Amino acid sequence: MRVLVSGGAGYIGSHTVIRLVEAGHDVVVVDDFSNAKPTVVGRLEALTGTSVPVHSFDLTDVDKTEHLFANETIDAVIHFAGFKAVGESVAKPLDYYQNNLDSTFSLLRAMRRHDVRTLVFSSSATVYGAEPRLPMTEDLPTSATNPYGWTKVMIEQVLTDVAASDDRLRIAALRYFNPVGAHVSGDIGEDPSGIPNNLMPFVAQVAVGRREKLSVFGDDYDTPDGTGVRDYIHVDDLAAGHVAALDRISAGTTPMSIWNLGTGQGVSVLEVIKAFERASGRPIPYEIAPRRAGDIAASYADPSRANSELGWYATKTIDDMCADTWRWQSKNPNGYPDA
Ligand code: UFG
Repeated sequence: MRVLVSGGAGYIGSHTVIRLVEAGHDVVVVDDFSNAKPTVVGRLEALTGTSVPVHSFDLTDVDKTEHLFANETIDAVIHFAGFKAVGESVAKPLDYYQNNLDSTFSLLRAMRRHDVRTLVFSSSATVYGAEPRLPMTEDLPTSATNPYGWTKVMIEQVLTDVAASDDRLRIAALRYFNPVGAHVSGDIGEDPSGIPNNLMPFVAQVAVGRREKLSVFGDDYDTPDGTGVRDYIHVDDLAAGHVAALDRISAGTTPMSIWNLGTGQGVSVLEVIKAFERASGRPIPYEIAPRRAGDIAASYADPSRANSELGWYATKTIDDMCADTWRWQSKNPNGYPDA
């Protein structure tokens, strides 16, 4: 298939481009580079040994999106593009609703006009909101605790309704738990701008000496060691999950599917620190800080639906995730170069 990857220059998108090419698909990327560096493209081409066509524009531009579909052969879409910072979404809710929803509407309309019926959407375990029932199964009710999370809940609803209106459609929403790690080459990885919001990139920057110490947000949760527990999943396993979902929906007859992508294993903040120290051979200085607003104690997947229906399993351990993150961070201490 020729697959349009929106947000294909971003963290999860770029790893998925590699997996798609390895699986024999052709790829076209659309990205506005608002949170990605153009230099990722050359690295993707070097790693895949193929040229990766890139269209550089914002998908909320309906005319440009239409032009793209009119001028490229597209069999399926994987939609990663979107704003994704929880804290920023609280400060700028309109930006988040407008960008994340409009880009999706624009894609869905162009897909309908050009008879493209297969779509994989980048959703998130954030749609389980403050759900206390663990492990999380796909049939739990959805909600959110911030505008970013609501955009994922709303888009899932839009996709469900659109799929119900046309039984020729093949749509999947993939609910990611906590993606971490990097391509095994160390040439592609997560490159957050500014101070990282998420645990793994922050830990990696402490290890490489870019930041002095980590703040552990709370050690009084109801978890085995008191720190937050999450289901960290290697980004390469996640990327493989997209290829499996794409293959499954395009061979099947179900208009709308939802799958959790996680390992099913909960890992605490302190366990991540220890694993990263083992992987890097460096100490990770940290201090216990107050809880972060909006955080939940624990989140981990029941991945059995994806296991049985996609034949997909997360294969990499927390030690693999830290080793690959460290390889990327130590080879690229300041992330991707500007040019
Ligand atoms: N944490 C720290 N210190 C830090 C950063 C994080 O102790 O500097 C802790 C958090 O309190 C939490 C754990 O590390 O216990 C993981 O935090 P992340 O920010 O890495 O990840 P979250 O689970 O909070 O958020 C992630 C994604 C969101 C998504 C959410 C739910 O970043 O996009 O999962 O799916 F909404």
